[in-house]
Amino acid sequence: MMENNIAVGIIGMGSCLPEKIVTNRDLEKTVNTSDEWIVERTGIKERRIADDATATSDIATIAATRALKDAGIPASEIDLIIVATATPDMMFPSTSCIIQKNIQAVNAAAFDLAAGCSGFVYGLVTGSQFIQSGLYKKVLVIGAETLSKILDWQDRNTCVLFGDGAGAALLGQVPAGCGLLGAHLGADGSGGDLLKLPGGGSRLPASTATVNERKHFVHMSGNEVFKFAIKIMGEAALKALEAAGLGSQDVDYLIPHQANLRIIHSAAKRLKIPLDKVMINVDKYGNTSAASIPIALEEAVDHGIIKNGDNVVLVGFGAGLTWAACVIKWCKGEKLIG
Ligand code: ACO
Repeated sequence: MMENNIAVGIIGMGSCLPEKIVTNRDLEKTVNTSDEWIVERTGIKERRIADDATATSDIATIAATRALKDAGIPASEIDLIIVATATPDMMFPSTSCIIQKNIQAVNAAAFDLAAGCSGFVYGLVTGSQFIQSGLYKKVLVIGAETLSKILDWQDRNTCVLFGDGAGAALLGQVPAGCGLLGAHLGADGSGGDLLKLPGGGSRLPASTATVNERKHFVHMSGNEVFKFAIKIMGEAALKALEAAGLGSQDVDYLIPHQANLRIIHSAAKRLKIPLDKVMINVDKYGNTSAASIPIALEEAVDHGIIKNGDNVVLVGFGAGLTWAACVIKWCKGEKLIG
């Protein structure tokens, strides 16, 4: 169990998905793939794709505004904004600062966090520390991506897998016994080459050569990432449960990172959690990286699947390599003043 006096939980949620739907059949027209292959290997049927004029901060701003409305809290009360993203608007300023301006969170500090698809849970755990320490009262954590902008649409190994979206959660104090009960974060940098965007940073600055060599797109060893994911999802969730003083029998609902249906099934099996207690929407949105967990969580709450008092486990893995899991006693709506 986390030892602290201030219980921290989610007091507002919001998400944003671009309107444009791209189906597997649409992709069949541009790359050598098939609806059957994509559905069988990944469970994905369609994904949302942002238009040319839309950047990550645009959909993140909408998600953030919805989370604030859900919580009934003005932007001026936010003390800190953390944005988990692998697709920032630009190298700098940070996407969190752009969102801070957009929503007029004039009293908020802001920074971006890079932990791939694990980023939202990394952000949730990081943001909670500021409230538990007493430094801040309200922290806005956003997972937002426009992966479509960094995909090689000629590479069937990657372009069929991802989608765009944003999810936001406002953290605040909740009644004792509620909120974040335990967490586990991890990383293994030795696997960094398995999933990366090689160009555009200080190692390989943008040049005509890097563009011609397609270095500004996602490069992934899919099968290696798959094996890593199968191993780490269950392990990370069990460690977070252990930190909370709970076991997998105590889990009311599992929100796994939505990368691949086979990975989700394997995690559920390892945790001995029946599939009717597992959120699955990868079929509709593909892998939205850092946005996938908050989008799935909000959908589960909106559909009444998650109820107050439930023990909810969030677990993700991603580029880095990284992994992150946490256990939340869901008590949204029973918020404290303060
Ligand atoms: N359509 C048709 N065939 C394809 C496609 C496609 N879209 N993509 C790959 N293939 C082919 C391959 O070329 C290969 O053909 P070959 O045997 O002739 O060489 C064959 O299908 C099998 O390829 P594998 O990579 O072995 O297939 P696998 O069963 O591993 O599935 C997949 C591939 C779906 C990518 C899987 O490995 C996976 O989901 N990996 C995890 C990826 C992931 O989750 N990444 C996100 C990490 S999180 C983050 O931070 C972004």
